[in-house]
Amino acid sequence: MPDRYGAIGYPLGHTVSPAFQQAAFDELGIDATYMAIETPAGDLPRRMSEVRNGRWAGLNVTIPHKAAVPRFLDGTAETAAAAGAVNTIYWKNGRLLGENTDVPAIGAVLENAEVEKEVRALVVGAGGAARAALLSLTARGDDVVIANRTISNAEATLDAVSPDREIEIFDLNSPSIGEVATEFDLIVNTTSVGMSGGPAPDESPLPISALRPGQVVFDVVYRPAVTPLLAQAAEAGCRTIGGLEMLVIQGGLSFELWTGKPAPLDTMMRAARTALASDSD
Ligand code: ATR
Repeated sequence: MPDRYGAIGYPLGHTVSPAFQQAAFDELGIDATYMAIETPAGDLPRRMSEVRNGRWAGLNVTIPHKAAVPRFLDGTAETAAAAGAVNTIYWKNGRLLGENTDVPAIGAVLENAEVEKEVRALVVGAGGAARAALLSLTARGDDVVIANRTISNAEATLDAVSPDREIEIFDLNSPSIGEVATEFDLIVNTTSVGMSGGPAPDESPLPISALRPGQVVFDVVYRPAVTPLLAQAAEAGCRTIGGLEMLVIQGGLSFELWTGKPAPLDTMMRAARTALASDSD
């Protein structure tokens, strides 16, 4: 019987995780399957009992469960505890644990792209992905500001990840957002604005006046590969980074927690690209 892994979330419509995780198991000759396991909020307790009962060897966790999962676990690793969010469930020495691999994945993407550290960075959005970005950028020594449409959500996010640290909050709806954002060296979009199938697929979270040559613009959205924000950024002369590499790296780190083996990232990236391309036909 193969070990069973999967991603829990809702809706999971077009996740590419099964394509690249399965490719990784196959590449290493590990007898395992990975599937999308649609889990509406009310089904989470039942799903977590399945994990306890041995049905699932490990899981990825996505919207809307990242913050709800810790109470079903025996413990959370340091990064997940700091983020207040778990994206990977794994067994270690008989204990069911949670980790957040989004945080190191964001750091790795910026490192791979040789983005300068200790710069002025703007995180756009205040959801789970924003929490990961705030932790990751703070760890790089960046001077971070958060911009969000709903100020109370930004406050709640800072209470969770940075209660003693002064991170300024800026109103994304303010008419001066363009002028303010242009001051930053690095902009990370963590909102779903610009995502296919999301609430505003044709929009950019920032006006074009926010963008200038020399800035680095990283969009965690991976579908489409070039979001309206990245298209504008390229036009304005910024360096652009899409979300697919982060997706694959966070999945690779989950794979390593489950298997104890190095993730075959090239294979995973190829499988993710193929899955995305066939999906948009
Ligand atoms: P995730 O966990 O993936 O970060 P989330 O918790 O649903 O997802 O957070 C979504 C983020 O996208 C939030 O910052 C949200 O802004 P609000 O806090 O104001 O809701 C942002 N967002 C979603 N749709 C948006 C839109 N049309 N314009 C601006 N921001 C938007």
